Amino acid sequence: MPEAVIIGSERSEAGLPTGMEVLARGGSALDAVEAAMRCCEDNLADHYVGTGGLPNAQGEVELDASVMLGSNRRFGSVGALRGYPNPISVARAVLEGLPQHCMLVGEGAALFAKENGFRRAELLTNEAKTLWREQLRASGESVEGENTAALDGDALYRRTALDLVRRLAPHEGPWGTINIIALDSSGELCVGVSTSGYPFKYPGRVGDSAVPGAGNWCDLRAGGAACTGRGELSMRGGTARTIVDLLAAGADPAEACRSALAEAATLPDDFRAELRALALTPDGRHGGAAGQQGSTYAVMTEHSPELRMHPRAVL
Ligand code: GLY
Repeated sequence: MPEAVIIGSERSEAGLPTGMEVLARGGSALDAVEAAMRCCEDNLADHYVGTGGLPNAQGEVELDASVMLGSNRRFGSVGALRGYPNPISVARAVLEGLPQHCMLVGEGAALFAKENGFRRAELLTNEAKTLWREQLRASGESVEGENTAALDGDALYRRTALDLVRRLAPHEGPWGTINIIALDSSGELCVGVSTSGYPFKYPGRVGDSAVPGAGNWCDLRAGGAACTGRGELSMRGGTARTIVDLLAAGADPAEACRSALAEAATLPDDFRAELRALALTPDGRHGGAAGQQGSTYAVMTEHSPELRMHPRAVL
């Protein structure tokens, strides 16, 4: 029987202890990932996931999330979901309750959440709204229907968010999407990803967190992997799937992540380009990689349950 393990990207510390509690009492990897991720989604201090996440160019919070199981490669995801604070649970409901589909987006995802009894909530906190307004002001644009009132769609995006995201430097301290990967005592692996996506993104933009093979992949024959950072790169690179393919070919988890990120880094991209990745194997080995020095990931195991931070390999 394998030792239960749960790992997560920066800021998953808000949820991993809850996930470990689930695993320690014999719960499933899927239950652990969902429980851990919900804590992160409900962490108002975190501006990259759930309630409090940074909004799109028009000031609306749109969330992406996914879960994938290793034993049968079942996948559930939601993209550009508005008004529901725990997209990881809606993604799980897609996986379990809508077997004819894997992914729902936009109004359809919200309809599905409503039909399944999920609680609606305001996702844009005052703090996130202030950040959005300050960033738009810093970009020389007005907000909330002033000069931008006559603009819509692509024009509004190009006048505000496109320039803004080009000029945004990586933030101080940990930032980005949250990845959580769990191995339970029955040997099942589950990967979960949740995000409010690229800050000030074009409305309707769905990132790699919802896309199988890009931000999330899990195959019990080799391992599970997930990405944070610029999702357009991991979608173009098929990065999470590439990591698992490298694990299957015998690479250790850190090297698999590093190689897949190095491949994605060869793609031409004018915008903030850093990607980070994590991987966990069915025998409990784990590793991560990043484009920046000093990046870490968090690990808890059943027999050594204090949360430990591990360095990621650097490209
Ligand atoms: N990796 C998250 C995103 O690009 O939305």
